[in-house]
Amino acid sequence: MKVKAFKWTPGKLKVLNQLKLPQQEEWLTLTTYQDVALAIKDMIVRGAPAIGCVAAYGFVLGVKYNKENPQKVYETLKNTRPTAVNLFWALERMYEALKLGKDIEGEAETIEKEDFEINLKIGEEGSKLIPQEAKILTHCNTGALATAGWGTALGVIRSSYKQGKKIFVWVDETRPYLQGARLTAWELLKEGIPHKIITDNTAGFLMRLKEVNAVIVGADRITANGDVANKIGTYSLAVLAKEHNIPFYVAAPTSTFDLNLQKGEEIPIEERSADEVKNCFGCYIAPEKSDALHLAFDITPAELITAIITERGIINKPNKEKIMKIVGFI
Ligand code: MRU
Repeated sequence: MKVKAFKWTPGKLKVLNQLKLPQQEEWLTLTTYQDVALAIKDMIVRGAPAIGCVAAYGFVLGVKYNKENPQKVYETLKNTRPTAVNLFWALERMYEALKLGKDIEGEAETIEKEDFEINLKIGEEGSKLIPQEAKILTHCNTGALATAGWGTALGVIRSSYKQGKKIFVWVDETRPYLQGARLTAWELLKEGIPHKIITDNTAGFLMRLKEVNAVIVGADRITANGDVANKIGTYSLAVLAKEHNIPFYVAAPTSTFDLNLQKGEEIPIEERSADEVKNCFGCYIAPEKSDALHLAFDITPAELITAIITERGIINKPNKEKIMKIVGFI
C-alpha cells in the first residue's frame, strides 16, 4: 500500500498526522493510551474503521504496556468520538479478549489485518456496480487513511480503477475539515486516479449537467433499518442523487452496523467546536464573535440509498429484513 494511516510495533503506535496533510507527512509516535485518545479526539487519526483499529492498539498500550486499569483505559478511549460505532465495536472486542485471557496484542493485530482484507472484499463487491466508464462523486475521505488500508467507498473506486475501468472522481472538498480536498485528493494523486476537487455546493449542478454517474460514500454507523450516519453533507447528496436519478451507494464493513439501534434518529451525532467552522488552519474566515454550528455527521434515511456494499455482499434497497440476513449473524 502506498498509503498507511498507522503502524504498530510492540509498545509503539505510529500515526500519520492527518491534520498536517497534504503539506507535510508527519509521523507521531504514541506510547500511552491517553496519547491515542487525544489523537482520535483531535482527528489526527480519523475515519470509522481506522478509529476502531487505533483504539484497539490504544487498549494494548494502556493495559499491556503501561499496566493501567483496563476499565479506565476502555472508558477513556470510548469517550473520544461518539458517532462511529467501529470505536465501540473494537473496544468491546478487546475487552472481551482480555476477559477470555487471550493475547490482546494479537487481537488488535487481527482487527487491523481483518479490516484490510474486508476493504479488499468491499472493493471487489462494489466494483460490480461500477460501469466500464464512470464519473463518480465521493464525499469526505474513506480511503486508506480512514481504514487499515485500501478503503471502503474509495476502496471501490481503487478496485474499479485497478480493474482497468475508466474512472473519474469528483472529490467533494468536505467542509469544514476538508477531508476530501486534503486527504482524498492526496490519495487519488498517489494512485494516479483522475479527479477534480469541487466545493461541496457544486455537486447538485454537476448532477444536473449529467456529469455524475454514481455517488459513493462511507458510513460511521448504520442502524438495523438501513439508515446511515456519515460525514455532514451526505444527506444532501443523497437527496440530490434521487432528484437526478443517480445511484447512491454506501460502502461499509459489517462492523459499522449497529443492530442495537432501530433507526437513524437514535444515533448520537457529534457536535464539534464552532471554531473549526470559523477558523481555517489558524486563520479566521468569519467574524470570531459570530457563533457557528458544527455538526460533524448527518443521517441519510435508507429509502434514499440504492445499495449498501459490505464485505459479505451487496444489500440492494436496504431494509431491516435484508440487513438481518447479511449482517445479523456472527
Ligand atoms: O470525522 P471523520 O473524518 O472521522 O469522518 C469520516 C467519515 O465520515 C467517513 O465517511 C466514515 O468514517 C467512513 S471511513 C471508511
